[in-house]
Amino acid sequence: MQDPKRYTITAALPYTNGPVHIGHLAGVYVPADIYARYLRLNDKEVAFVCGSDEHGVPITLKAKAEGTTPQAVVDKYHEIIKKSFQEFGITFDNYSRTSAKIHHETASEFFKDLYKHGKFIEETSAQLYDEKAEQFLADRFVVGTCPKCGFEESYGDQCENCGTSHNAKDLINPKSVITGNVPSLKETKHWYLPLNEYEKWLDEWILQGHKKDWKANVLGQVKSWIDDGLKPRAVTRDLDWGIPVPVEGGEGKVLYVWFDAPIGYISSTKEWAEKTGKDWEPFWKDKETKLLHFIGKDNIVFHCIIFPSMLKAQGSYILPENVPANEFLNLEGNKISTSKNWAVWLHEYLQDFPEKQDVLRYVLTANAPETKDNDFTWKDFQARNNNELVAIFGNFVNRVVVLTNKYYSGLVPAAGALSEVDQQTLDTMHSYPEIISKSIERFRFREALSELMNLARLGNKYLADEEPWKKIKTDPERVKTIMYVALQIASALSVLSEPFLPFTSKKLKEILNLDERLDLRWKSVGPNTILIASDHKINKASLLFSKIEDAEIQKQIDKLEASKTSAEEVKLEPQKETISFEDFTKLDIRIGTILEAEKVPKTKKLLKLKVDVGIDTRTIVSGIAESFDPSEIIGQKVTVLVNLAPRKLRGVESQGMILMSDTQDGKLSFIEPDGDTVTNGEKVS
Ligand code: 2FM
Ligand code: ZN
Repeated sequence: MQDPKRYTITAALPYTNGPVHIGHLAGVYVPADIYARYLRLNDKEVAFVCGSDEHGVPITLKAKAEGTTPQAVVDKYHEIIKKSFQEFGITFDNYSRTSAKIHHETASEFFKDLYKHGKFIEETSAQLYDEKAEQFLADRFVVGTCPKCGFEESYGDQCENCGTSHNAKDLINPKSVITGNVPSLKETKHWYLPLNEYEKWLDEWILQGHKKDWKANVLGQVKSWIDDGLKPRAVTRDLDWGIPVPVEGGEGKVLYVWFDAPIGYISSTKEWAEKTGKDWEPFWKDKETKLLHFIGKDNIVFHCIIFPSMLKAQGSYILPENVPANEFLNLEGNKISTSKNWAVWLHEYLQDFPEKQDVLRYVLTANAPETKDNDFTWKDFQARNNNELVAIFGNFVNRVVVLTNKYYSGLVPAAGALSEVDQQTLDTMHSYPEIISKSIERFRFREALSELMNLARLGNKYLADEEPWKKIKTDPERVKTIMYVALQIASALSVLSEPFLPFTSKKLKEILNLDERLDLRWKSVGPNTILIASDHKINKASLLFSKIEDAEIQKQIDKLEASKTSAEEVKLEPQKETISFEDFTKLDIRIGTILEAEKVPKTKKLLKLKVDVGIDTRTIVSGIAESFDPSEIIGQKVTVLVNLAPRKLRGVESQGMILMSDTQDGKLSFIEPDGDTVTNGEKVS
């Protein structure tokens, strides 16, 4: 589509089972916001919509975990998320929620429409059921082995490891998340969207039609699903939290969360239109509207296969022009996880760094997981702030503003004749809007940001080469031209940085006294506009960025380490089956001392130990070689199960077992008797 009349930009509706973290921001909200701000700066008509995704099993599970109701959970997180987005400068035109009346109505109407036109298959079949919880097990209520990749913790509707979307019954060895029980099968009726009927059309529309302009990761996933063959997909569930199925026979059932959530984009647009007196329909139904879905890679199937099939089935909606999905952002080498509390939460970041929204926006964009998973580390955050924002962008602007105030009392000087270097520098500056646009329009935000920084570098190099601080004594007339050129670059930065660093852009415009200049648009940084004229008065310097010290970073690292401990606690194994007291008394556990230790050849884990257990000295083979060096454990006091039946491990007979505990970092540690008074052979009971 060449020049669309308007844009509808959607950002994945976040689940309200927890706050928003940096992974969400890097994957979805920061790029979407850059794009929306960029379009507005180019005077395009934009509806940038989002809202809270308040249905689905994650919410119900969170409510169970917190001992409260799903409504209380969504109310709590909706407020936290909405407020933090706003403070972070994400400029949604509307942020709604799927519990809103307008959404319930819109989603119900959508379902009824498809139902009325015979777009669903109605089928009664046996589904997974938890007898103890008296509940059907759909989606995240059930885990099991992914039929595609073998990942053992796959959810009923989607595998987080390989991204495949499946039906709960496809799982191998399914287990109820509620009781841990193996589910039985029970008959129930549901409505299915026959995705198989859309397969050919999806192939033509995406794989043939968009093979050049969509991202490789998105095309790759779509191709893999289509190659595997699409199956009918249930769009209703036997749950009590969600939008009631609005047709006969739907009593006690709700819409599948992934049926209602994307319709949330439409209801959010409607809500916005109602508030602003606009018409929502062209934003969803006019072919000259460009619809874009910003999402993370785990949402690709829903936005490229299921939602488009729903829209196609309905018939009057436009389809996305592009779905620029990002990969995942990891945190300090580990996968970000809401349930394991391994995350940097936006609302906490804003509390800890109240004036540094742009630093996080910068780091997440510079390190965005656009083509592969990437890692966020606090050290990199600090380095990018200190070595890039402070040293390049901030330093340039500061020098320009300080010198203008010092030499000319803040009045922009008039330029004399431009030298070749001046002209080249201004020409290069004029080319930046187009250079950055090209990257943004191809969803290459890292590249776009790095070009913006190149503009700041251009300014730094110009000043370093021209040395106005030296020439002020020998050639003050020349300095006027140099400062004039440098001030143009600083002004260009104030405009072009706006999509990426909106708080900085605002502050810089205030410093340059350009904040009233509403005529300054993206294209103003071109040859035909004077960004900042001679005699214009600028304000005093104030720092755009400040250095982040080691102590602040260490505080964040320590905070993460502490949350890792609680994260590990979450992973504790459930209690084993109860045993009788008689069973327990059969165990003979004694104190011992390790006398000798050596590695069992050709094994990674095994050590052969000689242990004095009081009653005798015996050989024990123990799987502790990855946690200990043989030399460091000679003389170590240990706790030993001595009456375990002997067994051969790699040809060595082991006569007992050393009791160990798993530590937080995955290493083993000995269970040591307290104090030196215990002697070998003493019983543990
Ligand atoms: O993955 C998620 O967090 C989902 N709540 C995204 C929903 S996007 C949309 F379709 F609503
Ligand atoms: Zn899988």
